[in-house]
Amino acid sequence: MSMTTSPLLDVRDLKVEFLRDGNAVAPVDSVSFTLQANQTLGLLGESGCGKSVTALSILRLFPMASKARLSGSVRFRGQDLLQADEASLRALRGKDIAMIFQEPMTSLNPLHRIGDQLGEMLRMHTSLDRKQITEQSIAMLKRVGLPRAEQLVDDYPHSLSGGMRQRVMIAMALLCHPGVLICDEPTTALDVTIQAQILDLMRDLKEQQGTAILMITHDLGVVAEMCERVVVMYAGQVVEESSVRDLFDAPAHPYTTALMRARPTLAATPGQPLLAIPGMVPPPGSVNSGCRFAARCPKVDAHCRAQMPELTEVAPGHLARCWHPG
Ligand SMILES: Nc1ncnc2c1ncn2[C@@H]1O[C@H](COP(=O)(O)OP(=O)(O)O)[C@@H](O)[C@H]1O
Ligand code: SF4
Ligand SMILES: [Mg+2]
Repeated sequence: MSMTTSPLLDVRDLKVEFLRDGNAVAPVDSVSFTLQANQTLGLLGESGCGKSVTALSILRLFPMASKARLSGSVRFRGQDLLQADEASLRALRGKDIAMIFQEPMTSLNPLHRIGDQLGEMLRMHTSLDRKQITEQSIAMLKRVGLPRAEQLVDDYPHSLSGGMRQRVMIAMALLCHPGVLICDEPTTALDVTIQAQILDLMRDLKEQQGTAILMITHDLGVVAEMCERVVVMYAGQVVEESSVRDLFDAPAHPYTTALMRARPTLAATPGQPLLAIPGMVPPPGSVNSGCRFAARCPKVDAHCRAQMPELTEVAPGHLARCWHPG
């Protein structure tokens, strides 16, 4: 990749703080990564590492009640979304950057027909007329492999299976041909067979449409199947970043190694349950000045406990945050 290519999405020193009992806790603490056009970038980590908070920050989609303070920058085609006003963000959401969540029922409105929900997206972001909107909605439902799309537009979400709802979500996300698709554990709630079908579908659509994908997952198998590069998060920080090949060939951070050992087989298969790594992710607010993985790390020493390592290059294009990498 040429060094002059500017990234589509450039997240720099992103910090998210929530106020909890008068104290600020930071579930995302100075996270940086870039997503290039046409790339699928994995964001990998156990539950509670800050993946979803990172994803929600990009489009500032926090629930109204949560008092989130964001700093750093999130540049999309050069524009800093953290500085953008609500109207600009609304124009962007769904059109330029779309998001798919783990549980489609939280983003599909149970009271509206599938066709109306797809249509609303096109009404908001295009100048198509009614007939064109219906045609495009049906065409997109067909493209994501849904049967009897002509009838489906009149159905309500509850009449569909989980796998079908997730396909509807993908159809809705791709309707306006976004440059970036953020997928937050899009197949975690689905059974293994459906999960494999959805991942195949996403790979095909990405190849056809050239959408860049940020694939958030706790599953190394999904990373192996879908991604070119991967960012590993632990306790709100990036602890490793590399190409997927380098990550599997030579993991540099003990956390990544532990994730790989925790897999039941070396051949990464999506949907296999992750065996637990002993110990737990320190919750935001409980971290100290040392390495955040220290309590669970087999290589820990006094230096690790006292001082946080910086993210440094351990090989060309391969970063790790560890005093004893490799
Ligand atoms: N709205 C919120 N207010 C306060 N804390 C939150 C909020 N959302 C998430 N958190 C906390 O931030 C941490 C990271 O959460 P999350 O990003 O959902 O993790 P992941 O997606 O990696 O499982 C967790 O400790 C979680 O409890
Ligand atoms: S810095 Fe030390 S404790 Fe932290 S991951 Fe590396 S070896 Fe383990
Ligand atoms: Mg999450």
